[in-house]
Amino acid sequence: MSTLWHGRFEGGPADELMAFTESLSFDRRLWPDDIAGSRAHVRGLARVGLLSEAESTAVLSALDRVAAELEDGTFAFVASDEDIHTAVERRVTELVGAAGAKLHTGRSRNDQSATDVRLWLKRTLAEIGARLVELQGVLLARAEAAGETYLPGYTHLQRAQPVLLAHHLLAHGWSLGRHVDRLAEVVRRVDVSPLGAGALAGSSLPLDPDGTAADLGFAARFENSLDAVGSRDHVAESLFVMTLIAIDLSRLGEELVLWTSEEFGFARLDDAYATGSSMLPQKKNPDIAELARGKAGRVIGNLTGFLATMKGLALSYNRDYQEDKEPLFDSADQVSRALSAMSGMLASVTWVPDRMQAAADAETSSATDLAELLVADGMPFREAHAVVGGLVRRALAGEGTLSALVAAEPVLGRRGAALVAPGVSVRRRTTPGGAGPGPVAVQLERFRSALDRWRASLAR
Ligand code: ARG
Repeated sequence: MSTLWHGRFEGGPADELMAFTESLSFDRRLWPDDIAGSRAHVRGLARVGLLSEAESTAVLSALDRVAAELEDGTFAFVASDEDIHTAVERRVTELVGAAGAKLHTGRSRNDQSATDVRLWLKRTLAEIGARLVELQGVLLARAEAAGETYLPGYTHLQRAQPVLLAHHLLAHGWSLGRHVDRLAEVVRRVDVSPLGAGALAGSSLPLDPDGTAADLGFAARFENSLDAVGSRDHVAESLFVMTLIAIDLSRLGEELVLWTSEEFGFARLDDAYATGSSMLPQKKNPDIAELARGKAGRVIGNLTGFLATMKGLALSYNRDYQEDKEPLFDSADQVSRALSAMSGMLASVTWVPDRMQAAADAETSSATDLAELLVADGMPFREAHAVVGGLVRRALAGEGTLSALVAAEPVLGRRGAALVAPGVSVRRRTTPGGAGPGPVAVQLERFRSALDRWRASLAR
């Protein structure tokens, strides 16, 4: 077997070495980026006279042919192809001989693979952003359609105060928007070309890293060749943003698991977005929601595993860095699929407002409103809290319904009892950003504009 670096070695590589160190099995998906990087490199070599016009034309057309073979699956990989980079170069050289042998002039796989991953990340983070705004669009549409449907808001997973369903859905929407912002911020740092850094130190040849950076659509070239091939913080922060997205989806998933249970009964999944049981004929299971929760675990693992890989590596490139790809690819795949599946599930879920509202109308849900009524009358809040707390305790002890006890309480009376009536409490959440119909109408308007901005930020 003959590798591209065989010159210095007497014999061929051991089978175990190839089996253990190859990355072709997972980095072949970088081929569009590898071809793009090679095209830019060839054009750059031609601009500075390292390739003749005829040579660059020959190599570029060989790259076209290789791209076509990789695209339609006819590319024949051979045993010595260690990674996508060596496979492409080997094939180009087969196709155009001596001109092909000049492809790697002034380049190392270190700057090449770093370039490929940055190109891949720019594309992929934009795709994840598009899926994020799609899910935000679903949440917005469901929030707009939810009208004044309300449900219990929870703290500690205990009923706390009623909130509009729209308010609850938009809470997830705003959180997803921060991920869109984070992606844009990370892309700013991903958008730097390492091409021209060579193995670690640049070149004696008259390379033009600014030219290749511009050719590839990067915003800038590297400032320091050691940093260009020896840094992966952009990989770590991409993994981190994907992890935060996965964690949000896992939390949304957990709520859908709860809401679709018979105990809550707040929502019913569309048949197309639910699964059955192989044994229990009556079952309808929220597997998408569960896997959104479950897969967050491996996405967290991808981040923490890669952080451990980076730790303690002396500058610059180390082969350890080849381990950046599998976590990155896996997190991106899982997060992309989870976003799409959650969008479909949420777009088609049926809410059960009667169940939501019956749960929210539990009389104790208005306890805070009762205390605030006393505060409006001039009672210090701590005292009001104690008065209402005492009434709740007596209601729970079976002395009567809370509304009856409130009506009989001189400082509250019928004014107080009216607050305990169904549907009243949520309407009293009137402050900016609050959970009642007034502020939620404003919030919907603001979310619509923000979503336009998030969409536009992806288009840039
Ligand atoms: N497949 C390798 C990677 O992704 C290519 C770099 C190998 N470089 C080297 N100097 N052996 O990191």
